[in-house]
Amino acid sequence: MTKVIAILNQKGGVGKTTIAANIGVSIAKRGHSVLMVDSDPQGSLRDWSEADEGEGLTVIGLDRETLAKDIESVKAPYDFVIIDGRAKAEKMAGAAIRAADLVLIPVAPSALDIWGASDITEAIAARHEVTEGKPATRFIINAATKNTKLIEEIRPATQESGFNPLNTVLYSREIYKQTMGDGLTVHSAKNADALEEIENLTTEIMEILNNES
Ligand SMILES: Nc1ncnc2c1ncn2[C@@H]1O[C@H](COP(=O)(O)OP(=O)(O)OP(=O)(O)O)[C@@H](O)[C@H]1O
Ligand SMILES: [Mg+2]
Repeated sequence: MTKVIAILNQKGGVGKTTIAANIGVSIAKRGHSVLMVDSDPQGSLRDWSEADEGEGLTVIGLDRETLAKDIESVKAPYDFVIIDGRAKAEKMAGAAIRAADLVLIPVAPSALDIWGASDITEAIAARHEVTEGKPATRFIINAATKNTKLIEEIRPATQESGFNPLNTVLYSREIYKQTMGDGLTVHSAKNADALEEIENLTTEIMEILNNES
């Protein structure tokens, strides 16, 4: 059965596309077939894929509100589908939530950003009322700095939202910007610290999906 991961936040610039590409490559390197879905008409993930074919992932654009149905009709041959979400698009987010087994919500390490994701968390909570808790949902703390107190500091805000953060935190690193600009991921840069956090993130994601099935 294909597992669908949606990376969503109505706020722009929180790392949706960066995380989608990096975990997509990480999952593919573990021997799974992966379909990347760019749901953003801006086409950032398609631009990334065009910049360099080095990472070899299949990227398609499905940027209509029929997303859930469209994914249903193409997902079968793949082990994983990863949806790169679109900011400021309520109906698209709703469709992605319906299609997903796991929703990941990238946020900066601040309570304000977690509260700011309430459009998504409330839509998921509403969905849970009719699905007995599916899709599984986690925050990803992205672009943290070494001084951030992180999980302890944001814990109250995540509890209010009803969803937990993944243990793995992604730090702010130039290597994410550089590699994405070249159509690559941290896997090609062989940056040990960035690679380790992406691999830890992917392992956590796989564990959640295994426990769900
Ligand atoms: N951990 C990180 N460290 C450094 N830069 C990062 C990190 N994550 C993302 N960025 C940078 O932040 C910017 C926004 O990231 P990205 O495009 O992935 O966000 P997005 O949520 O997809 O944005 P949009 O809503 O516009 O689609 C990019 O320049 C990206 O390179
Ligand atoms: Mg994006």
